[in-house]
Amino acid sequence: MNRFFITGGAGFIGSAFVRLLLEERPSCNVTNFDALTYAGNMDNLEGLDKTRHQLVQGDVAARDSVLAALESGTDAIINFAAESHVDRSILSADEFLRTNILGTQVLLDAARECGVRRFLQVSTDEVLGSLPEDETAYFTENSAFAPNSPYAASKAAAEHLVRAAHHTFGLDTVVTRCGNNYGPRQFPEKFLPLALSNAMNDEPIPLYGDGQNVRDWIYVMDHCRAILLALRQGHAGAVYNIGARNEHRNIEVAESLLDALGKPRSLIRFVKDRLGHDRRYAIDPSRAESELGWRPLETWESGLRKTIAWYQENSRWIERARSGAYRDYYKQQYGTEVGAA
Ligand SMILES: NC(=O)c1ccc[n+]([C@@H]2O[C@H](COP(=O)([O-])OP(=O)(O)OC[C@H]3O[C@@H](n4cnc5c(N)ncnc54)[C@H](O)[C@@H]3O)[C@@H](O)[C@H]2O)c1
Repeated sequence: MNRFFITGGAGFIGSAFVRLLLEERPSCNVTNFDALTYAGNMDNLEGLDKTRHQLVQGDVAARDSVLAALESGTDAIINFAAESHVDRSILSADEFLRTNILGTQVLLDAARECGVRRFLQVSTDEVLGSLPEDETAYFTENSAFAPNSPYAASKAAAEHLVRAAHHTFGLDTVVTRCGNNYGPRQFPEKFLPLALSNAMNDEPIPLYGDGQNVRDWIYVMDHCRAILLALRQGHAGAVYNIGARNEHRNIEVAESLLDALGKPRSLIRFVKDRLGHDRRYAIDPSRAESELGWRPLETWESGLRKTIAWYQENSRWIERARSGAYRDYYKQQYGTEVGAA
């Protein structure tokens, strides 16, 4: 495989994947198809080799734009493009349905029309709902779908469409389902970079509910390496759960960040819980480990160290990400201005 069509490649995970691909495959060519919504960031593409990477601004739900950008001879579509923030889906679900569901169907149709060899859908463990806080329960690839937020429901619908394209039309598809990513270039509306950027500025960290919700954290490059392996070696029609066996409560994450930065834990502020807030996610990645030979390279400690160092060295990136529309969103969501003590 040499010619890749990546959607959402100006976002957090997509841009990390583009970097990995260009590094690992010196002869590959990448079309990066991204609508550049509030979450798409040209700064994320700084320094990439322009001879092998072309950004095309376009909407995955617009069939004509997708077909115009999708060249014949494309080996694989990797679909990262999505509205990805649960809180925003609670405020309004419209864009989630359009991009995440309709957009996925448009891409599946385009893949068939243009003879693309493989379609990889980047999905989330959130399609499987919430687990009890009992340490023995894990999500497997056979767990029942039980999405609890409009975001999760839209990603679940997208997975069903991918499955249907494989079953009905024989399209070669692979789905990867991952937990909470962290690492460089994550838009600061998400919990970990929000907590980190607030703490770096001595601003309070809002923590939903009792702060005891559990998430399964993975360093973004470990997720991207798993996607690349699934693309190369995954079975047609298969689903792979990707997780680093790294569960932490939200309050522990906030405390770890504050401790690492030498900031007081008193910066934590408990705020009204998210509606329908899932309690625990935990992934059993055995299939990815045994079939793909995948293992995470980062520990929680090394991943956090790298993430903190990147944000400390890239204050201009954070300032730009925290300006403009982000300020309006923050006020609507938390009832205070960015930076308010
Ligand atoms: N962040 C996580 O922890 C996580 C975990 C599991 C799965 N995922 C999935 O991984 C993918 C990437 O997540 P992320 O955190 O990088 O998201 P992100 O919000 O940082 O980036 C999304 C990208 O998609 C683009 N986009 C949005 N709507 C578009 C449209 N209509 N057409 C074309 N491009 C569009 C945006 O401009 C942006 O560049 C998503 O599909 C998400 O569901 C994310």
